[in-house]
Amino acid sequence: MDVNAITEKLIRGELIDEAGFAELIRADSPELRAALAGAAREKCRAVYGNAVHIRGLIEFTNYCKNNCFYCGIRAGCKSAERYRLSEEEILSCCREGYELGFRTFVLQGGEDPFFTPERIENIVRAIKKAHPDCAVTLSVGEHPKEVYALWKQAGADRYLLRHETADKAHYESLHPAEMSFENRMRCLRDLRALGYQVGCGMMVGSPGQMPETLARDLVFIQSFRPEMVGIGPFIPAKDTPFESEKAGTLEMTLLLLSVIRLILPEVLLPATTALGTIHPRGREMGILAGANVCMPNLSPVSVRKKYALYDNKICTGDEAAQCLGCLGARIRSVGGEIVIARGDSKLKP
Ligand code: 5AD
Ligand code: FES
Repeated sequence: MDVNAITEKLIRGELIDEAGFAELIRADSPELRAALAGAAREKCRAVYGNAVHIRGLIEFTNYCKNNCFYCGIRAGCKSAERYRLSEEEILSCCREGYELGFRTFVLQGGEDPFFTPERIENIVRAIKKAHPDCAVTLSVGEHPKEVYALWKQAGADRYLLRHETADKAHYESLHPAEMSFENRMRCLRDLRALGYQVGCGMMVGSPGQMPETLARDLVFIQSFRPEMVGIGPFIPAKDTPFESEKAGTLEMTLLLLSVIRLILPEVLLPATTALGTIHPRGREMGILAGANVCMPNLSPVSVRKKYALYDNKICTGDEAAQCLGCLGARIRSVGGEIVIARGDSKLKP
């Protein structure tokens, strides 16, 4: 099938197969990106208007027991300066965020054994008690179903767990043998079954990724129908096995944002910090390509540089209020408007 036919099918909301997505990816060009972005923004506007949802990201621990080859806070990364926020510090980030207009808090951290299921349960309960009108999103990695259930019971609304890649062999080339593709997918299924709004996603341009690999990710997204999809370019991190690899590109990330918006018009799609890191206007371009979420940092400035998943991360020196002011101006510059709302997904099951 030719690329125009695939694009039209995509815009009509018809299913595309792996070969079709691979063809689209291989055909990447400024013209194709512009066509997809135009259609993607139109779909986004029909569902969400010009609203851009903001989520306050609290990076509460950079300890991690895992050793993902790409990640700057992997256990083996000796140069990472480790920190943990206390429950009181986390609550104070939420208080400050609430004053600024945030109604979703995303607790993100490495898989840190110090934060036992019960500790995280207590933190979720405390946030929901202090801010009953807010959504709590957890992003703390792989856990048994019972643990996910405990946190859901405590009031957690959403869970972000990027699938990283839907190709088993590629998954194994990005992770050590202790981690498995099957467990990752098991986690996503369990989260869904427990009633979480679920976010998956992948890096763009990770080492060894091919058009076919990305096509497989898109087929997975099309069939799993997550409420949220987080994608950003791979950016090498120092002192990791991938420190000398090439970064993913702005262009491919933008193309994929548009394709994902067309696959799932109701999806919550962030213009990620990684996208803002590879290009000074990356997040604005992300919104123009169909993204409708931004996740500024609410972590205390004293720890921000330490949550270095990759090198040269932006927004590590700014107070939450400055960051929000900057982001608001950026979003308005592309015709968007920040909204104060929980911003639940409009995805129909
Ligand atoms: N470059 C870009 N993204 C990264 N992540 C981890 N390391 C990197 C990197 N070097 C992403 C992963 C993870 C999310 C929290 O950050 O996809 O799931
Ligand atoms: Fe963080 Fe611009 S959004 S400083």
